[in-house]
Amino acid sequence: MSFFRKKLIEPPSAAQISMKRDLKIKDLIFLGIGAIVGTGIFVVTGVASANYAGPALILSFALAAVAIILSGLAYAEFASRIPILGGPYAYMYVVFGELTAWLAGWLVICEFFLAVSSVASGWSGYVHGFLESIGITIPTALSAAYNGENGTYVDLIAMLVVVLVTYWVSLEAKTALRLNNLMVYVKFAIIALFVIVGIFYVRPGNWQPFMPFGFSGVLNGAALVFFAFLGFDAVSMAAEEVENPQKDIPKGIIGSIALATILYVIVTLILTGIVPFDQLGVKDPVAFAMRFVGQGWVGAVISVGAILTLLTVTISMMYSLARMLYAISKDGLLPRFMSEIDEKRRTPKKATYVAGVCAMIFAGVFPMELLAEFTNIVSLMYLILMAVGIIRLRKMLGAPSAHEFKMPWVPVLPIISIIACIILMIQLTTTTWIVFAIALVIGLAIYFGYGYRHSAMNQK
Ligand code: ALA
Repeated sequence: MSFFRKKLIEPPSAAQISMKRDLKIKDLIFLGIGAIVGTGIFVVTGVASANYAGPALILSFALAAVAIILSGLAYAEFASRIPILGGPYAYMYVVFGELTAWLAGWLVICEFFLAVSSVASGWSGYVHGFLESIGITIPTALSAAYNGENGTYVDLIAMLVVVLVTYWVSLEAKTALRLNNLMVYVKFAIIALFVIVGIFYVRPGNWQPFMPFGFSGVLNGAALVFFAFLGFDAVSMAAEEVENPQKDIPKGIIGSIALATILYVIVTLILTGIVPFDQLGVKDPVAFAMRFVGQGWVGAVISVGAILTLLTVTISMMYSLARMLYAISKDGLLPRFMSEIDEKRRTPKKATYVAGVCAMIFAGVFPMELLAEFTNIVSLMYLILMAVGIIRLRKMLGAPSAHEFKMPWVPVLPIISIIACIILMIQLTTTTWIVFAIALVIGLAIYFGYGYRHSAMNQK
Protein backbone atom coordinates (compact mmCIF):
# COMPACT_ATOMS: atom_id res chain seq x y z
CA MET A 1 0.00 0.00 0.00
CA SER A 2 1.24 3.44 -0.78
CA PHE A 3 0.98 4.61 2.86
CA PHE A 4 4.09 2.55 3.27
CA ARG A 5 6.01 3.87 0.29
CA LYS A 6 9.65 4.24 1.26
CA LYS A 7 12.50 6.55 0.45
CA LEU A 8 15.97 5.42 -0.50
CA ILE A 9 18.96 6.56 1.48
CA GLU A 10 20.40 9.38 -0.55
CA PRO A 11 22.97 11.35 1.42
CA PRO A 12 23.37 14.82 -0.08
CA SER A 13 26.27 15.08 -2.51
CA ALA A 14 29.20 17.35 -1.68
CA ALA A 15 27.85 19.88 -4.18
CA GLN A 16 24.53 20.08 -2.33
CA ILE A 17 26.18 20.92 0.94
CA SER A 18 27.28 24.49 1.06
CA MET A 19 28.19 24.59 4.74
CA LYS A 20 31.69 24.32 6.08
CA ARG A 21 32.65 21.05 7.70
CA ASP A 22 34.54 22.47 10.61
CA LEU A 23 32.69 21.47 13.79
CA LYS A 24 34.62 19.31 16.28
CA ILE A 25 33.37 16.92 18.96
CA LYS A 26 33.61 19.66 21.56
CA ASP A 27 31.43 21.93 19.41
CA LEU A 28 28.88 19.16 19.07
CA ILE A 29 28.75 18.52 22.81
CA PHE A 30 28.34 22.25 23.34
CA LEU A 31 25.55 22.32 20.79
CA GLY A 32 23.88 19.49 22.71
CA ILE A 33 24.34 21.06 26.13
CA GLY A 34 23.06 24.37 24.72
CA ALA A 35 19.81 22.69 23.71
CA ILE A 36 19.53 20.27 26.64
CA VAL A 37 20.32 22.11 29.85
CA GLY A 38 17.47 24.51 30.54
CA THR A 39 14.06 24.57 32.13
CA GLY A 40 14.38 20.92 33.12
CA ILE A 41 17.05 21.59 35.69
CA PHE A 42 16.34 25.24 36.47
CA VAL A 43 12.57 24.94 36.89
CA VAL A 44 11.05 21.43 36.65
CA THR A 45 13.24 20.10 39.47
CA GLY A 46 11.28 22.21 41.95
CA VAL A 47 7.83 20.83 41.20
CA ALA A 48 9.18 17.31 40.60
CA SER A 49 10.80 17.24 44.01
CA ALA A 50 8.02 18.97 45.95
CA ASN A 51 5.11 17.03 44.45
CA TYR A 52 6.53 13.70 43.33
CA ALA A 53 9.94 12.44 44.25
CA GLY A 54 11.21 14.42 47.25
CA PRO A 55 14.99 14.13 47.77
CA ALA A 56 14.88 10.89 45.76
CA LEU A 57 14.70 13.12 42.70
CA ILE A 58 18.27 12.08 41.97
CA LEU A 59 16.95 8.56 41.41
CA SER A 60 14.33 10.00 39.07
CA PHE A 61 17.08 11.72 37.13
CA ALA A 62 19.11 8.50 37.02
CA LEU A 63 16.13 6.52 35.70
CA ALA A 64 15.28 9.16 33.11
CA ALA A 65 18.95 9.19 32.09
CA VAL A 66 18.95 5.42 31.52
CA ALA A 67 15.87 5.72 29.30
CA ILE A 68 17.32 8.62 27.36
CA ILE A 69 20.73 6.98 26.91
CA LEU A 70 19.08 3.90 25.40
CA SER A 71 17.11 6.12 23.05
CA GLY A 72 20.24 8.17 22.35
CA LEU A 73 22.07 5.02 21.23
CA ALA A 74 19.31 4.16 18.76
CA TYR A 75 19.23 7.75 17.59
CA ALA A 76 22.99 7.72 17.16
CA GLU A 77 22.95 4.61 14.99
CA PHE A 78 20.27 6.11 12.77
CA ALA A 79 22.11 9.41 12.53
CA SER A 80 25.25 7.55 11.57
CA ARG A 81 23.73 5.20 9.01
CA ILE A 82 21.18 7.50 7.42
CA PRO A 83 23.04 10.81 7.37
CA ILE A 84 20.28 12.92 5.85
CA LEU A 85 18.46 15.91 7.30
CA GLY A 86 15.04 15.47 8.85
CA GLY A 87 15.89 13.36 11.91
CA PRO A 88 13.39 10.66 12.90
CA TYR A 89 11.10 11.69 10.05
CA ALA A 90 13.78 10.88 7.50
CA TYR A 91 14.84 7.67 9.28
CA MET A 92 11.30 6.31 9.42
CA TYR A 93 10.78 7.11 5.75
CA VAL A 94 13.59 4.72 4.97
CA VAL A 95 12.61 1.88 7.30
CA PHE A 96 8.82 1.95 7.59
CA GLY A 97 7.60 4.21 4.82
CA GLU A 98 5.57 7.36 4.57
CA LEU A 99 2.80 7.02 7.14
CA THR A 100 5.16 6.15 10.00
CA ALA A 101 7.59 8.81 8.77
CA TRP A 102 4.85 11.39 8.91
CA LEU A 103 3.80 10.27 12.39
CA ALA A 104 7.38 10.45 13.65
CA GLY A 105 7.76 13.85 11.99
CA TRP A 106 4.50 15.05 13.50
CA LEU A 107 5.54 13.87 16.97
CA VAL A 108 8.88 15.64 16.63
CA ILE A 109 7.12 18.81 15.45
CA CYS A 110 4.90 18.55 18.54
CA GLU A 111 7.95 17.89 20.72
CA PHE A 112 9.79 20.97 19.50
CA PHE A 113 6.90 23.34 19.62
CA LEU A 114 5.77 22.13 23.04
CA ALA A 115 9.35 22.36 24.25
CA VAL A 116 9.57 25.94 22.99
CA SER A 117 6.34 26.69 24.86
CA SER A 118 7.46 25.01 28.08
CA VAL A 119 10.87 26.59 28.10
CA ALA A 120 9.29 30.00 27.42
CA SER A 121 6.95 29.37 30.31
CA GLY A 122 9.84 28.34 32.57
CA TRP A 123 11.79 31.38 31.43
CA SER A 124 8.89 33.55 32.46
CA GLY A 125 9.13 32.05 35.98
CA TYR A 126 12.70 33.29 36.31
CA VAL A 127 11.86 36.70 34.84
CA HIS A 128 8.97 37.06 37.32
CA GLY A 129 11.25 36.11 40.20
CA PHE A 130 13.83 38.59 39.05
CA LEU A 131 11.34 41.43 38.45
CA GLU A 132 9.81 40.89 41.87
CA SER A 133 13.24 41.06 43.47
CA ILE A 134 13.65 44.55 42.00
CA GLY A 135 10.14 45.61 42.99
CA ILE A 136 8.24 45.21 39.69
CA THR A 137 5.04 43.14 39.59
CA ILE A 138 3.03 42.13 36.53
CA PRO A 139 -0.80 42.43 36.78
CA THR A 140 -2.19 39.13 38.07
CA ALA A 141 -4.39 38.44 35.04
CA LEU A 142 -1.35 38.51 32.76
CA SER A 143 1.11 36.83 35.10
CA ALA A 144 0.51 33.12 34.56
CA ALA A 145 -1.23 30.50 32.45
CA TYR A 146 -5.02 30.24 32.58
CA ASN A 147 -6.34 29.43 36.03
CA GLY A 148 -9.85 30.64 36.86
CA GLU A 149 -9.37 30.19 40.62
CA ASN A 150 -6.27 32.34 40.81
CA GLY A 151 -7.61 34.93 38.40
CA THR A 152 -4.81 34.46 35.87
CA TYR A 153 -5.50 34.34 32.14
CA VAL A 154 -2.33 34.35 30.11
CA ASP A 155 1.37 34.37 30.76
CA LEU A 156 2.31 37.54 28.93
CA ILE A 157 6.05 37.26 29.44
CA ALA A 158 6.14 33.71 28.09
CA MET A 159 4.22 34.85 25.01
CA LEU A 160 6.49 37.82 24.46
CA VAL A 161 9.62 35.72 24.58
CA VAL A 162 8.22 33.36 21.96
CA VAL A 163 7.54 36.34 19.67
CA LEU A 164 11.08 37.57 20.21
CA VAL A 165 12.67 34.19 19.59
CA THR A 166 10.54 33.56 16.49
CA TYR A 167 11.60 36.87 15.05
CA TRP A 168 15.23 36.25 15.90
CA VAL A 169 15.28 32.73 14.42
CA SER A 170 13.59 33.92 11.24
CA LEU A 171 16.32 36.53 10.82
CA GLU A 172 19.61 35.23 12.02
CA ALA A 173 19.39 31.65 13.14
CA LYS A 174 23.05 30.87 12.57
CA THR A 175 24.31 33.80 14.59
CA ALA A 176 21.86 32.89 17.30
CA LEU A 177 23.16 29.35 17.39
CA ARG A 178 26.73 30.61 17.53
CA LEU A 179 25.86 32.62 20.61
CA ASN A 180 25.12 29.21 21.99
CA ASN A 181 28.76 28.42 22.87
CA LEU A 182 29.09 31.53 24.97
CA MET A 183 25.84 30.69 26.72
CA VAL A 184 27.01 27.19 27.49
CA TYR A 185 29.89 28.74 29.44
CA VAL A 186 27.34 30.89 31.27
CA LYS A 187 25.39 27.74 32.12
CA PHE A 188 28.49 25.99 33.45
CA ALA A 189 29.40 29.13 35.39
CA ILE A 190 26.06 29.53 37.16
CA ILE A 191 25.84 25.84 37.91
CA ALA A 192 29.37 25.95 39.33
CA LEU A 193 28.47 29.02 41.39
CA PHE A 194 25.40 27.25 42.74
CA VAL A 195 27.39 24.15 43.63
CA ILE A 196 30.32 26.00 45.22
CA VAL A 197 28.13 28.25 47.36
CA GLY A 198 25.39 25.69 47.95
CA ILE A 199 27.63 22.93 49.22
CA PHE A 200 28.24 24.86 52.46
CA TYR A 201 24.52 25.01 53.20
CA VAL A 202 23.68 21.37 52.63
CA ARG A 203 22.03 19.77 55.66
CA PRO A 204 21.94 16.01 55.26
CA GLY A 205 18.78 16.04 57.41
CA ASN A 206 16.93 17.52 54.40
CA TRP A 207 17.54 14.28 52.51
CA GLN A 208 15.32 12.51 55.03
CA PRO A 209 12.76 11.13 54.38
CA PHE A 210 14.47 10.18 51.15
CA MET A 211 11.43 8.80 49.36
CA PRO A 212 8.43 10.62 50.87
CA PHE A 213 6.14 9.55 48.03
CA GLY A 214 7.50 6.01 47.68
CA PHE A 215 8.96 4.46 44.55
CA SER A 216 5.93 5.40 42.49
CA GLY A 217 6.77 9.03 43.28
CA VAL A 218 10.28 8.42 41.96
CA LEU A 219 8.85 7.03 38.72
CA ASN A 220 6.44 9.95 38.41
CA GLY A 221 9.37 12.27 38.94
CA ALA A 222 11.37 10.44 36.26
CA ALA A 223 8.52 10.84 33.77
CA LEU A 224 8.57 14.57 34.43
CA VAL A 225 12.32 15.24 34.51
CA PHE A 226 12.75 13.21 31.34
CA PHE A 227 12.07 16.62 29.87
CA ALA A 228 15.44 17.84 31.11
CA PHE A 229 17.26 15.58 28.62
CA LEU A 230 15.34 16.51 25.50
CA GLY A 231 17.20 18.49 22.92
CA PHE A 232 20.00 15.96 22.38
CA ASP A 233 18.60 15.50 18.89
CA ALA A 234 19.74 19.03 18.06
CA VAL A 235 23.21 17.55 17.62
CA SER A 236 22.10 15.65 14.54
CA MET A 237 21.16 18.95 12.91
CA ALA A 238 24.83 19.61 12.45
CA ALA A 239 25.25 16.53 10.23
CA GLU A 240 26.36 18.67 7.31
CA GLU A 241 28.86 20.70 9.26
CA VAL A 242 31.12 18.07 10.77
CA GLU A 243 34.13 16.39 9.24
CA ASN A 244 33.03 12.84 9.92
CA PRO A 245 29.31 12.80 10.80
CA GLN A 246 29.12 9.04 11.07
CA LYS A 247 31.53 8.96 13.98
CA ASP A 248 31.22 12.45 15.43
CA ILE A 249 27.44 12.86 15.66
CA PRO A 250 26.98 9.75 17.86
CA LYS A 251 29.82 10.92 20.11
CA GLY A 252 28.19 14.35 20.33
CA ILE A 253 24.82 12.85 21.26
CA ILE A 254 26.12 10.41 23.88
CA GLY A 255 28.66 12.92 25.22
CA SER A 256 26.12 15.66 25.79
CA ILE A 257 23.64 13.30 27.47
CA ALA A 258 26.39 12.00 29.77
CA LEU A 259 27.56 15.47 30.72
CA ALA A 260 23.98 16.65 31.34
CA THR A 261 23.36 13.64 33.59
CA ILE A 262 26.38 14.46 35.74
CA LEU A 263 25.33 18.11 36.07
CA TYR A 264 21.75 17.19 36.94
CA VAL A 265 22.66 14.70 39.61
CA ILE A 266 25.01 17.16 41.33
CA VAL A 267 22.57 20.08 41.19
CA THR A 268 19.66 17.97 42.45
CA LEU A 269 21.67 16.58 45.32
CA ILE A 270 22.65 20.05 46.49
CA LEU A 271 19.24 21.59 45.85
CA THR A 272 17.40 19.01 47.93
CA GLY A 273 20.14 19.20 50.55
CA ILE A 274 19.65 22.96 51.01
CA VAL A 275 15.87 23.35 50.88
CA PRO A 276 13.39 20.93 52.49
CA PHE A 277 11.72 19.30 49.47
CA ASP A 278 8.21 20.40 50.41
CA GLN A 279 9.22 24.04 49.97
CA LEU A 280 10.70 23.60 46.51
CA GLY A 281 7.50 23.99 44.49
CA VAL A 282 8.46 27.46 43.23
CA LYS A 283 8.98 28.87 39.74
CA ASP A 284 12.72 29.44 40.09
CA PRO A 285 13.98 26.75 42.51
CA VAL A 286 17.73 27.08 41.90
CA ALA A 287 17.74 30.83 42.55
CA PHE A 288 15.20 30.37 45.34
CA ALA A 289 17.55 27.99 47.16
CA MET A 290 20.15 30.73 47.30
CA ARG A 291 17.65 33.25 48.63
CA PHE A 292 16.52 30.62 51.11
CA VAL A 293 19.98 30.56 52.72
CA GLY A 294 20.32 34.33 52.67
CA GLN A 295 22.59 34.48 49.59
CA GLY A 296 20.25 36.79 47.71
CA TRP A 297 22.97 38.18 45.43
CA VAL A 298 24.00 34.69 44.30
CA GLY A 299 20.31 34.01 43.63
CA ALA A 300 20.13 37.18 41.51
CA VAL A 301 23.23 36.21 39.51
CA ILE A 302 21.77 32.75 38.92
CA SER A 303 18.45 34.26 37.83
CA VAL A 304 20.13 36.50 35.28
CA GLY A 305 22.26 33.59 34.04
CA ALA A 306 19.22 31.33 33.77
CA ILE A 307 17.26 34.02 31.93
CA LEU A 308 20.07 34.30 29.38
CA THR A 309 20.73 30.60 28.96
CA LEU A 310 17.11 29.47 28.76
CA LEU A 311 16.87 31.72 25.73
CA THR A 312 19.37 29.55 23.86
CA VAL A 313 17.33 26.44 24.57
CA THR A 314 14.27 28.16 23.10
CA ILE A 315 16.29 29.32 20.12
CA SER A 316 17.73 25.84 19.40
CA MET A 317 14.30 24.25 19.67
CA MET A 318 12.66 26.89 17.48
CA TYR A 319 15.48 26.53 14.96
CA SER A 320 15.02 22.74 14.82
CA LEU A 321 11.26 23.11 14.61
CA ALA A 322 11.41 25.44 11.62
CA ARG A 323 13.87 23.06 9.84
CA MET A 324 11.63 20.12 10.54
CA LEU A 325 8.56 21.88 9.09
CA TYR A 326 10.71 22.91 6.16
CA ALA A 327 11.96 19.36 5.48
CA ILE A 328 8.49 17.82 5.68
CA SER A 329 6.83 20.49 3.61
CA LYS A 330 9.51 20.05 0.94
CA ASP A 331 8.30 16.47 0.59
CA GLY A 332 4.78 17.76 0.14
CA LEU A 333 3.32 16.35 3.37
CA LEU A 334 2.69 19.84 4.69
CA PRO A 335 1.63 22.89 2.64
CA ARG A 336 4.46 23.96 0.37
CA PHE A 337 4.60 27.55 1.56
CA MET A 338 6.46 26.29 4.63
CA SER A 339 9.41 25.22 2.52
CA GLU A 340 9.83 28.63 0.91
CA ILE A 341 13.18 30.15 1.72
CA ASP A 342 13.28 33.86 2.35
CA GLU A 343 15.48 35.26 -0.40
CA LYS A 344 17.29 37.82 1.65
CA ARG A 345 17.88 35.91 4.87
CA ARG A 346 18.11 32.37 3.51
CA THR A 347 15.89 31.04 6.31
CA PRO A 348 12.50 29.24 6.13
CA LYS A 349 10.75 32.35 7.40
CA LYS A 350 7.15 31.28 6.91
CA ALA A 351 7.70 27.92 8.60
CA THR A 352 9.26 29.80 11.50
CA TYR A 353 6.24 32.09 11.80
CA VAL A 354 3.80 29.17 11.81
CA ALA A 355 5.87 27.52 14.54
CA GLY A 356 6.00 30.76 16.49
CA VAL A 357 2.26 31.41 16.50
CA CYS A 358 1.46 27.89 17.77
CA ALA A 359 4.15 28.00 20.43
CA MET A 360 3.07 31.45 21.57
CA ILE A 361 -0.52 30.38 22.16
CA PHE A 362 0.47 27.29 24.11
CA ALA A 363 3.10 29.16 26.14
CA GLY A 364 0.51 31.74 27.12
CA VAL A 365 -2.33 29.44 28.05
CA PHE A 366 -0.90 26.25 29.56
CA PRO A 367 1.16 25.99 32.75
CA MET A 368 4.77 24.87 32.41
CA GLU A 369 4.34 21.56 34.20
CA LEU A 370 1.59 20.44 31.85
CA LEU A 371 3.53 21.63 28.81
CA ALA A 372 6.55 19.63 29.97
CA GLU A 373 4.34 16.54 30.31
CA PHE A 374 2.91 17.07 26.82
CA THR A 375 6.44 17.41 25.46
CA ASN A 376 7.48 14.20 27.18
CA ILE A 377 4.62 12.05 25.96
CA VAL A 378 5.12 12.93 22.30
CA SER A 379 8.89 12.51 22.62
CA LEU A 380 8.57 9.14 24.35
CA MET A 381 6.30 7.97 21.57
CA TYR A 382 8.68 8.91 18.78
CA LEU A 383 11.57 7.34 20.70
CA ILE A 384 9.57 4.10 20.80
CA LEU A 385 9.22 4.32 17.02
CA MET A 386 12.99 4.83 16.79
CA ALA A 387 13.72 1.76 18.93
CA VAL A 388 11.41 -0.41 16.82
CA GLY A 389 13.00 1.20 13.77
CA ILE A 390 16.51 0.09 14.76
CA ILE A 391 15.42 -3.53 14.93
CA ARG A 392 13.87 -3.16 11.49
CA LEU A 393 16.91 -1.31 10.13
CA ARG A 394 19.15 -4.20 11.15
CA LYS A 395 16.84 -6.59 9.29
CA MET A 396 16.95 -4.38 6.20
CA LEU A 397 20.61 -3.44 6.07
CA GLY A 398 22.35 -5.84 8.46
CA ALA A 399 24.86 -4.71 11.06
CA PRO A 400 26.59 -1.35 10.64
CA SER A 401 29.97 -1.25 8.92
CA ALA A 402 33.18 -0.41 10.78
CA HIS A 403 32.95 3.33 10.16
CA GLU A 404 29.33 3.58 11.34
CA PHE A 405 28.01 3.80 14.90
CA LYS A 406 26.59 0.58 16.28
CA MET A 407 23.98 0.39 19.00
CA PRO A 408 25.16 -2.53 21.15
CA TRP A 409 23.02 -5.61 21.86
CA VAL A 410 20.28 -5.21 19.29
CA PRO A 411 17.44 -6.24 19.74
CA VAL A 412 17.83 -6.53 23.55
CA LEU A 413 18.62 -2.87 24.23
CA PRO A 414 15.97 -1.49 21.86
CA ILE A 415 13.39 -3.72 23.58
CA ILE A 416 14.48 -2.46 27.01
CA SER A 417 14.32 1.06 25.59
CA ILE A 418 10.72 0.50 24.43
CA ILE A 419 9.75 -0.86 27.86
CA ALA A 420 11.45 2.07 29.62
CA CYS A 421 9.60 4.59 27.43
CA ILE A 422 6.26 2.85 28.04
CA ILE A 423 6.85 2.80 31.82
CA LEU A 424 7.53 6.55 31.76
CA MET A 425 4.53 7.25 29.53
CA ILE A 426 2.09 5.50 31.83
CA GLN A 427 3.17 7.72 34.72
CA LEU A 428 1.81 10.79 32.96
CA THR A 429 -1.59 12.28 33.84
CA THR A 430 -4.88 11.54 32.11
CA THR A 431 -5.04 15.10 30.80
CA THR A 432 -1.69 14.54 29.12
CA TRP A 433 -2.95 11.32 27.53
CA ILE A 434 -6.07 13.08 26.26
CA VAL A 435 -3.98 15.84 24.70
CA PHE A 436 -1.74 13.16 23.22
CA ALA A 437 -4.72 11.36 21.67
CA ILE A 438 -5.99 14.63 20.22
CA ALA A 439 -2.53 15.36 18.80
CA LEU A 440 -2.43 11.92 17.14
CA VAL A 441 -5.89 12.38 15.63
CA ILE A 442 -4.90 15.81 14.28
CA GLY A 443 -1.70 14.29 12.89
CA LEU A 444 -3.55 11.48 11.13
CA ALA A 445 -6.16 13.92 9.83
CA ILE A 446 -3.45 16.10 8.30
CA TYR A 447 -1.89 13.10 6.61
CA PHE A 448 -5.06 11.60 5.21
CA GLY A 449 -6.65 14.96 4.44
CA TYR A 450 -3.60 16.57 2.90
CA GLY A 451 -0.21 14.87 3.01
CA TYR A 452 -1.11 11.62 1.34
CA ARG A 453 -2.42 13.37 -1.76
CA HIS A 454 0.24 16.05 -1.96
CA SER A 455 3.26 13.87 -1.20
CA ALA A 456 6.13 14.33 -3.61
CA MET A 457 6.22 10.53 -3.80
CA ASN A 458 2.97 10.70 -5.83
CA GLN A 459 4.85 12.23 -8.68
CA LYS A 460 7.52 9.54 -8.75
N1 ALA B 1 15.93 19.83 27.96
C1 ALA B 1 15.41 21.12 27.72
C2 ALA B 1 15.21 21.86 28.98
O1 ALA B 1 15.32 21.29 30.02
C3 ALA B 1 14.16 21.06 26.92
O2 ALA B 1 14.93 23.02 28.95
